[in-house]
Amino acid sequence: MFTILTGAQFGDEGKGKIVDVIGKDYDIVVRFQGGNNAGHTVIVGDATYKLHLIPSGILTDARLLIGPGVVVDPRVLVSEIGMLERIGIQITPEKLGIDAKASIIMPYHIEMDKLREQKRTQKIGTTARGIGFAYIDKISRDEVRLADLSDANVFLAIMEELCAQKERAIIDLGGDDDVVHAAVRASIPEYIGYGTLLKPYLTDVSYELNRALDRDKNVLAEGAQGAHLDVIHGTQKFVTSSGTAAGSACAYLGVGPTRVDQVVGIVKAYITRVGEGPLPTEQSGEIGERLREAGGEFGTTTGRPRRCGWFDSPLARKAVDLNAYSRVALTKLDVLTGIDPIRICVGYNLDNQYSKYPPQLSSDLERCSPVYEEMEGWDQDISDITAFSDLPSAAQDYVRRIERILGVYVSIVSIGPRRDQVLARE
Ligand code: GDP
Ligand code: IMO
Ligand code: MG
Repeated sequence: MFTILTGAQFGDEGKGKIVDVIGKDYDIVVRFQGGNNAGHTVIVGDATYKLHLIPSGILTDARLLIGPGVVVDPRVLVSEIGMLERIGIQITPEKLGIDAKASIIMPYHIEMDKLREQKRTQKIGTTARGIGFAYIDKISRDEVRLADLSDANVFLAIMEELCAQKERAIIDLGGDDDVVHAAVRASIPEYIGYGTLLKPYLTDVSYELNRALDRDKNVLAEGAQGAHLDVIHGTQKFVTSSGTAAGSACAYLGVGPTRVDQVVGIVKAYITRVGEGPLPTEQSGEIGERLREAGGEFGTTTGRPRRCGWFDSPLARKAVDLNAYSRVALTKLDVLTGIDPIRICVGYNLDNQYSKYPPQLSSDLERCSPVYEEMEGWDQDISDITAFSDLPSAAQDYVRRIERILGVYVSIVSIGPRRDQVLARE
């Protein structure tokens, strides 16, 4: 079975938690895009794990893979492996494989990301992890792949060719000599060290996945970010630099689309966004603050407060189009407890026209006025409920209303950050 799981909004929908919950049914969990711009939180018992590169299936018995479409910061990966080992989770090459063709995020990508963002008149609010510049180098064929990093001679030859170009680029973006030195030539020995450390994990992810599927193994492709951060279909230019929708998983992983069995969407019961860009239902006042506090809506990667708003049906409908979900996990329902009434944006007004679907351009989305319907709230704490039918009827109605808007069955309702706080509806 091949399942693709993606975020349906602007990231941070709770993908990490749901991968941890369903991961026990899979033999392989694989990341297919993005890099350590992602922050996935998994909470089991008293322990909280914040993962940026290692797939969220880490606490299951699954083999973990990082595909060739991921941009890998080796410094972050090595420290994440170290962090897990310190708490007793051994990351052996049997447990983790990284594709030989994964692009490496180099220190100059990170500096260029920061400098470019400083210079932009209209900020994107990137995570400053060098994601965009690493993907630029992949497309322009100036990338360093993990295979290259793992062979010191190959790596040195590539750097020989790239160093002057990268130094000029940093200076052009306003970097000074110290930055240039630290981000380019001075970092080479450290990166040779990472290549040596990561060499045992090298694998061919497409080959592994196709053979696993031949043998009827279960594979879960774990998305990072969310539908509206997709580099092609998202709210450009306030997007990340990879394809985040389900179809991209096939392209990035090298698994043909006819092998996909199901696509799972992760949908938050309201909406959040980190960084800049349109968010029509954003609540800057009391409700926004309440969602942020109750939902712990602070970025896992950068610590930035997330912008919060009511559930946005037009954006949700588009996410369904982009992903063709087979089923949905609705997360963070507990965060709405005590809010009455709860609002759902059912459509937008733009230039005196009503629409249930978002306009194509961010500049128009920015101008949309949400049209709301109100639903009755509930007061009862739902975080320890164990069956969907035990939820207050207003909470059940809210889930069913979202299900009707999406046109997709909500098979999991999440009512808290812990692994056991899920209600299965199958
Ligand atoms: P991801 O990037 O999609 O994996 O999501 P993040 O981990 O960045 O953000 C989701 C946050 O919400 C994390 O802190 C989770 O522990 C937490 N979370 C996940 N599901 C629930 C839920 O149902 N209720 C509550 N209250 N928190 C949740
Ligand atoms: P997970 O996987 C939320 C946002 C950034 C910024 C934009 C571009 O945890 O859901 P980038 O550094 O990718 O060039 O930044 O994308 N962004 C995320 N927002 N969750 C994420 O990942 C994100 N990864 C990137 O805030 O607006
Ligand atoms: Mg996150």
